Amino acid sequence: MSAAPASHPLPSYLQANNLGPWGVYLQQVDRVTPYLGNLSRWVETLKRPKRALIVDVPIHLDNGTVAHFEGYRVQHNVSRGPGKGGVRFHQDVTLSEVMALSAWMSIKNAAVNVPYGGAKGGIRVDPKTLSRGELERMTRRYTSEIGIIIGPNKDIPAPDVNTDEQIMAWMMDTYSMNQGSTATGVVTGKPVDLGGSLGRREATGRGVFTVGAEAAKHIGMDISTARVAVQGFGNVGGIAGKLFAEAGARVVAVQDHAGTIFREAGLDVPSLLRHVAHTGSVAGFAQAEAIANDLFWEVDCDILIPAALEQQINGSNAGRIKARMVIEGANGPTTPEADDILHDRNVLVLPDVIANAGGVTVSYFEWVQDFSSFFWDEAEINARLVRIMREAFAGIWQVAQDNKVSLRTATFIVACKRILHTRELRGLYP
Ligand SMILES: NC(=O)c1ccc[n+]([C@@H]2O[C@H](COP(=O)([O-])OP(=O)(O)OC[C@H]3O[C@@H](n4cnc5c(N)ncnc54)[C@H](O)[C@@H]3O)[C@@H](O)[C@H]2O)c1
Repeated sequence: MSAAPASHPLPSYLQANNLGPWGVYLQQVDRVTPYLGNLSRWVETLKRPKRALIVDVPIHLDNGTVAHFEGYRVQHNVSRGPGKGGVRFHQDVTLSEVMALSAWMSIKNAAVNVPYGGAKGGIRVDPKTLSRGELERMTRRYTSEIGIIIGPNKDIPAPDVNTDEQIMAWMMDTYSMNQGSTATGVVTGKPVDLGGSLGRREATGRGVFTVGAEAAKHIGMDISTARVAVQGFGNVGGIAGKLFAEAGARVVAVQDHAGTIFREAGLDVPSLLRHVAHTGSVAGFAQAEAIANDLFWEVDCDILIPAALEQQINGSNAGRIKARMVIEGANGPTTPEADDILHDRNVLVLPDVIANAGGVTVSYFEWVQDFSSFFWDEAEINARLVRIMREAFAGIWQVAQDNKVSLRTATFIVACKRILHTRELRGLYP
């Protein structure tokens, strides 16, 4: 019998010198390992995805030519239940990124204790360059290609960056046509008329707001007078900004892919949301001042909400951030280096793996409602969401206090213990 290697070698499909977001995730696992007790003997399980599928997605373009896109679906861990996680359409999507996002889904689902493993998917494409017909054909072909590993009991995709309710409707229809019967439970984040859940569209932003408000109580911050800066004003950032504004906070700065806007007295969030719905970005919003993108990071504010892409808060800007609290609406927005800088500067970071878990929590409600074909009203959904988020956050806060660790490490402690405990209970097959 040969001894297990001291540290696990990287799979051959990754480059050690360019690990990307997967490298960030591995560092986070290393940080939590000393706190896992006897369960740490299973930790290698977390350091590789269970299954990674790479697919070619060919489609006819409107001009008569054929284009090929690179697609992925990664199931990181399914010890606690079927895989669950979004699908991202973005020109920079890589296998490393999808692997990391799938792993963060394992952690997130365990942190809020919904009965799922972690998965994620993506296509390397800028969907803004496609016509609606091309987008539909690409979505359908991708769904067919990954159809061998997804399903209501296997792996349930959902929206992420640049994917929405319509894309979920096409995915559900494609999967159902291939199966020969309607399977609404194969994706979540669907239109309400197709088995979607009330409250799902707002759920991630509502979760961001809920944990932000809970953390504010712990550090004696008054939300109703707080100044908030938001990066990314799509589903997550837009709703979070709206809820903070409704609670009395001033949203002073917003940045998206097209520019950065600022207003000391606070932006009129409902009218900014209408502007974004109409024009596609915050740029050109009349009732604000346009500022240089890099200045966004040093705006005077109490709460900073990164709600766009990964690695936005890094060694180059973490030292300039003025906020007392960062709420990670996006997945992986803070590099480990920036995490340390923020920690040293006493900035409280509410990590993605709990802060943006509201979306998957209501996705879980959607899936449950689809199975029973019995639908709940929005007040019930929001009340259940808020209860789950508050309870999960309270538990994580306590673990952070007990172990004198960051909230990120505390969330990983709670989640990794849950995942590895089920790993141990199930044992290794065969
Ligand atoms: N939608 C969900 O339910 C959900 C759940 C959990 C986590 N997330 C995460 O939240 C983040 C945002 O997702 P979303 O669903 O709101 O996506 P979205 O497509 O609705 O919005 C993305 C926003 O980011 C902005 N953006 C893109 N590139 C940018 C750049 N280079 N600089 C600044 N802004 C940029 C876009 O302009 C847009 O405002 C992602 O990290 C996603 O993984 C989303």
